[in-house]
Amino acid sequence: MSYIIRRMQERDIPQALEIDREAFPTQWPHPSYSSFKQELRNRLACYIVVAEPKEPTLSEQVTDNKTLWQKFLRLFDHNHFFGEETSQSSKEYIIAIAGFWIMVDEAHITTLAIRNAYRRRGIGEWLLIQIIEMAAQFKANVVTLEARVSNREAQALYEKYGFHKVGIRRAYYTDNGEDAVIMTTDSLTSRNFQAHFQNLKQTHQHRWEELYASEKTKVA
Ligand SMILES: CC(C)(COP(=O)(O)OP(=O)(O)OC[C@H]1O[C@@H](n2cnc3c(N)ncnc32)[C@H](O)[C@@H]1OP(=O)(O)O)[C@@H](O)C(=O)NCCC(=O)NCCS
Repeated sequence: MSYIIRRMQERDIPQALEIDREAFPTQWPHPSYSSFKQELRNRLACYIVVAEPKEPTLSEQVTDNKTLWQKFLRLFDHNHFFGEETSQSSKEYIIAIAGFWIMVDEAHITTLAIRNAYRRRGIGEWLLIQIIEMAAQFKANVVTLEARVSNREAQALYEKYGFHKVGIRRAYYTDNGEDAVIMTTDSLTSRNFQAHFQNLKQTHQHRWEELYASEKTKVA
């Protein structure tokens, strides 16, 4: 078992739509193929996916000098992330999507969704770590988002990463008129935020390494 995180490509849109509908079944209107495509072309938007390769990649076959962490969660490199579309995604099963917009000095999370069958494995947390790191690379000062007031799972994830509730948008969701809670981080460069974030990131990394080691033992 290994996952890869990379930029969303146009050929991922059908699977991204599936994930969106599974994660937000009551939302109306749902994003369409063309709205996703438009987002992928938006220079101020950034969309990423977590994919499960259906076949081992060349690097998995020939290299054995990586740490467990690198083997298990193969992070995108710069070219992989911003480079041209590859044909790889036709062989990949997309299990999670995330997106954010850069708005002046703020990174605003527009979506974060994991397929039901892959939840509670740390993948949402992994994506949030990537978003925060990318937001910092884009020189954003804070990361913000809206979540349904009833969405305790998502709020727990964000609170774990130091997001605070700073307001309410009344009747924000058109399907049932539910309010949204507005959440934001402290300054990404603040000492407190960084200390907390680096600590969580390290814990997450160890958790994945242990999981990888136990998966390997099971296979052996
Ligand atoms: C919210 C969501 C992204 C979490 O993803 P995930 O991969 O299942 O979460 P993780 O396994 O990485 O969990 C990370 C943290 O999130 C919180 N969390 C996740 N699922 C939770 C649940 N069912 N109950 C309580 N807390 C939960 C916990 O704080 C958890 O940390 P812990 O493992 O130390 O307890 C996922 O449930 C999802 O896709 N939900 C539907 C879409 C959605 O609501 N997106 C957010 C929109 S704002």
